[in-house]
Amino acid sequence: MCGIVGYIGAKNCVPILIEGLKRLEYRGYDSAGLGLINSDHCEVIKNKGKVAELEKLVHQKNIQSSLGIGHTRWATHGEPSVINAHPHVNKEKTLFLIHNGIIENYLSLKKGLEVEGYQFVSETDTEVLAHLIDHYLKLKNSLFHAVRYALNEVEGTYGIAVIYNGEKDKIVVAKKGSPLVIGIGENENYIASDVTALIAYTKQVVYLEDGEIAEITANSFKTKTILDEDIIKEINQVEVGIDDITKGGYPHFMLKEIMDQPGSIFNSMRGRLVFDEGISKLGGLQGFEERILNSRRIIISACGTSWHAGLVGEYMLEQYTGIPTEVDYASEFRYRNPIITKDDTVIFISQSGETADTLAALKEAKKKGALCLGVCNVVGSSIARESHAGVYIHAGPEIGVASTKAFTAQLVVFSLITLLIARSKSLSLQQGQEIICEMQNLTKKIETILKQNEIIEKIAEQYVDSKNFLYLGRGYNFPVALEGALKLKEISYIHAEGYPAAEMKHGPIALIDDNMPVVFIATKDYTYDKVVSNIQEVRARKGRILAIISEDDDQIEKMVDHVIRVPQTHSMLMPILTVIPLQLLAYHIAVKKGLNVDQPRNLAKSVTVE
Ligand code: G6P
Repeated sequence: MCGIVGYIGAKNCVPILIEGLKRLEYRGYDSAGLGLINSDHCEVIKNKGKVAELEKLVHQKNIQSSLGIGHTRWATHGEPSVINAHPHVNKEKTLFLIHNGIIENYLSLKKGLEVEGYQFVSETDTEVLAHLIDHYLKLKNSLFHAVRYALNEVEGTYGIAVIYNGEKDKIVVAKKGSPLVIGIGENENYIASDVTALIAYTKQVVYLEDGEIAEITANSFKTKTILDEDIIKEINQVEVGIDDITKGGYPHFMLKEIMDQPGSIFNSMRGRLVFDEGISKLGGLQGFEERILNSRRIIISACGTSWHAGLVGEYMLEQYTGIPTEVDYASEFRYRNPIITKDDTVIFISQSGETADTLAALKEAKKKGALCLGVCNVVGSSIARESHAGVYIHAGPEIGVASTKAFTAQLVVFSLITLLIARSKSLSLQQGQEIICEMQNLTKKIETILKQNEIIEKIAEQYVDSKNFLYLGRGYNFPVALEGALKLKEISYIHAEGYPAAEMKHGPIALIDDNMPVVFIATKDYTYDKVVSNIQEVRARKGRILAIISEDDDQIEKMVDHVIRVPQTHSMLMPILTVIPLQLLAYHIAVKKGLNVDQPRNLAKSVTVE
């Protein structure tokens, strides 16, 4: 994954790079480094661990520079170490390169370079690029063309930035499969993996597309394809503000983002509900409605939490649109030669819009002629741009690695898509209006749940020492069980499994004893009585039970150890409410265990490797 940032201009770039890297740490945080070029010397500073460690080192050295690049790493090739940290350099230590992605043919490139006498010090794929560019520089190419020639030999993915002591007035960047954005300032320019690293300085950005390369000076930028074709890029205005990417007084981004949910789900539906017609209005799908309505099948493809949102989406779409819908892990979809036709609609869900497997699945479905829709949070992200049409979830920047507000906003968007299709099928005006009313009431209902934060924190105390958890739900609440379990394992490192409640008797029931906490999502819907029976089965085996129940439930409390009550809403919207206590439960357990909830070990927010 990795985050990259760079600056050229008149200011001292060191604090800009450090600040930018901190904002990009969600992309990886096992080591970090800076490459700086001054009029009189050039230097690389690298450290194992988080950006804060690098910052201390940089302070000790007290260096200044007006040209620099920085990198925060998520290890793919080679363990997290100073040697494997970026920037990577040529032998003379005059060329510095940072990379996000994977060079797939690095071994064959490396062999060729070794024959020429190049020596390698790291275990990374990236180091090959530094030497390959050096090779083309020695053939008297400019940095721009040396990078271009090198990239023409590369297979794999990259977002790279390169600086060179022989051409101190520029940064060269290129993109294929990993995001790269140029920030346009006044007599200064920036580059980064995404806009969060730039918005403190500029709101004007240029998104590079795959196969594009740019040379950036303090006052200009020029772009070409790596095949040397001229291209003209549009400058975009970013809407995200600095408040959106700070903790706003909360101890962690994750808590801020959980607490943001009344606002974020409001934003995801704002201006999109037409009560009089009981329908939704989705500008991003305009012109594609007929094709969607006439789809033979809808396929939803995603990873992680977004995949869980897709499962809820499947239930909604099948129940209300009558169109057969299936959900597929993007990583499986892309490699098993799925049967896709031009009569299919494939919906790709991704908070970041950059997940490598989801992006590759999208390209595969596009090749096969399906209509491809993107449901993304990050505006201008690769999946959003690559899709034929789509809907932004407008949750605002999500920085905590564990996804929270993006999940609920994704569910809102699935409700909107369902409404749009279903009203043209069999959903009546009255049913459409009922759903809209319930959607409009969600904000208040979420606030009611968030007010129970302290109660949930107290409940969390009782479970901090547990080693395993089971999460059970049925119907719409089955994907919530999966998501609740994922939240817990991601940030608290407690093993947790989500299961359809009825499946418990086919295996997980063997695990139940008085040490096994079982979280039931047992709100009132058509599965309620069955879930109550499942609760009894766990109780009979002395399992510890925490149940998420409906506000007015007077049965379950007597059977279980703890309850958290949530308001009732339309059954298809219930997951938007029932997941919130589970987010808070995972958060408090992880905090009580003293863990870094915003940056859990081994994870990254944006998974740009397959
Ligand atoms: C990573 C993140 C998850 C996220 C998943 C898919 O694993 O840690 O929180 O759900 O990627 O990400 P996407 O950006 O495609 O939704």
